[in-house]
Amino acid sequence: MEENKKILTTNQGNPVDNDQASITTQKHTMTLLSDVHTVEKLAHFDRERIPERVVHAKGSGAFGYFEVTHDVAKYTCAGFLSQVGKRTEMLARFSTVGGEKGSADTARDPRGFALKFYTDQGNYDMVGNNTPTFFIRDGIKFPDFIHTQKRNPLSNLKDADAFWDFLSLTPESIHQVTILFSDRGTPDGYRHMHGFSSHTYMWYNEKGEHVWVKWHFKTDQGIKNLTDQQATELAGTDPDYATRDLFNSIEKGDFPSWTAYVQIMKPEEADNYKFDPFDITKVWFHSDYPLIPVGKFVLNRNPQNYFNEIEQAAFSPGNFVPGIASSPDKMLQVRLFSYPDTQRHRLGTNFDQLPVNAPKCPIHNYQRDGQMNTGSQESAPNYYPNSFNGPAPDIKFTPPAIDVQGMAARHEYPLGDIDFVQAGELYSRAMSDYDRSNLISNIVGHIKNAQQRIQYRQCAIFYKAHPEYGTRVAEGLRLDINKVKSLAAMNQEDRVKATAS
Ligand code: HEM
Repeated sequence: MEENKKILTTNQGNPVDNDQASITTQKHTMTLLSDVHTVEKLAHFDRERIPERVVHAKGSGAFGYFEVTHDVAKYTCAGFLSQVGKRTEMLARFSTVGGEKGSADTARDPRGFALKFYTDQGNYDMVGNNTPTFFIRDGIKFPDFIHTQKRNPLSNLKDADAFWDFLSLTPESIHQVTILFSDRGTPDGYRHMHGFSSHTYMWYNEKGEHVWVKWHFKTDQGIKNLTDQQATELAGTDPDYATRDLFNSIEKGDFPSWTAYVQIMKPEEADNYKFDPFDITKVWFHSDYPLIPVGKFVLNRNPQNYFNEIEQAAFSPGNFVPGIASSPDKMLQVRLFSYPDTQRHRLGTNFDQLPVNAPKCPIHNYQRDGQMNTGSQESAPNYYPNSFNGPAPDIKFTPPAIDVQGMAARHEYPLGDIDFVQAGELYSRAMSDYDRSNLISNIVGHIKNAQQRIQYRQCAIFYKAHPEYGTRVAEGLRLDINKVKSLAAMNQEDRVKATAS
């Protein structure tokens, strides 16, 4: 027993004699600097915190595997999808978006759904949400949108005015707002929700033929949501509700799993689809593009150390393997920049060398040095081209070319009636009476804290999505329905002027 006892050491591995009393000259006087153990212990403690993620700060994660169940090789040459039965090790992290690292798991918010596949051809990340759409469709708006979900710079309080002011000035958000304020905005833990790429990506095969795809991951546990009241209560009684649920279920061997599907659109169909297939505020109707099964993933291992493996995990929608590439979705293009940029700030230059982020295959390139480099690459040569047999690119990995010619300018998405169609269909066709009632009361319970002129502007947008939808929210807020109707009849510019003060 004694032989197996671990000796306490410094970070240099030097044995420590005492960890309960710092070294002083006499009983309880000045602590001496020669007490290097105490100094190191405090100095390390002083540096324990790293910046939390600017969004998606509160989250949980687990490891597992992805298994291919259906042959999709005709669409993509991605090695990890090449054969039925092929398994790939993976990591999943689920999160809320707007709150701080200590915020409640049950907040009304989209849930992050980030997957990292450790493939033989390097890491592939699928960084999605539990919603198939998003609030905005140009990345230039993202910092503003996120600021409205954070704290007011003056009061340091969450701000219903900012939240609804921005959304009502950004009507393309209506589809995602309708999803968020349904009970899907408060899922019952992370195991009972679906995941989506939301964005459209490119898949291409060995012949260089490409298609456009959207990922869908359906929970095998079944969808389960909390009501607004349950979510609010849990935020007080068990703010780590979803974290606990995921950890405990894996710990007791009840491994959650998701079935993976894709929707596939041929390039020639993209030009003529009734919605812009690269606009993330829209879905592709399943009746037009049915779900094609691909595989499943199972989470069967909790992290050994939360900070090392989950807090330091770095996902990026730009981590592609051959066979998968980006698409002309301008939100996605901005994301390709933002993730590794924030991770260099949050975790350091060599964040990709941390064990959780490092690919399981060798890496060879000419990037060298930087802070906290663990020297995973050979030392020479360190330039390219070279005649010393250094690693060289291979043209066979070039993704298919796509035509993106045109005039460079700040092209705005024109706001059109088409932007309200899918929210209206969701309200009137996909939702049950129960869903609709909860949607209305969830919205009213939140927007009632915003200024009335903002309530009017947003109600007009609900009305444009579906007259009953706008009417019911307006009734819940005791607004003048005729005023809502006349605002709904205006274009957005006039509506904004009419509700300016
Ligand atoms: C996290 C930026 C849109 C899903 C993050 C982070 C940033 C960011 C800076 C923190 C990353 C880190 O610290 O490691 C952006 C920008 C967007 C955008 C600029 C729009 C232009 C989206 C969309 C989705 C999404 C549309 C889903 C479809 C996620 C997820 C995480 C995340 C799941 C958490 C990843 C993790 O678990 O570590 N985003 N985001 N984001 N984002 Fe986005």
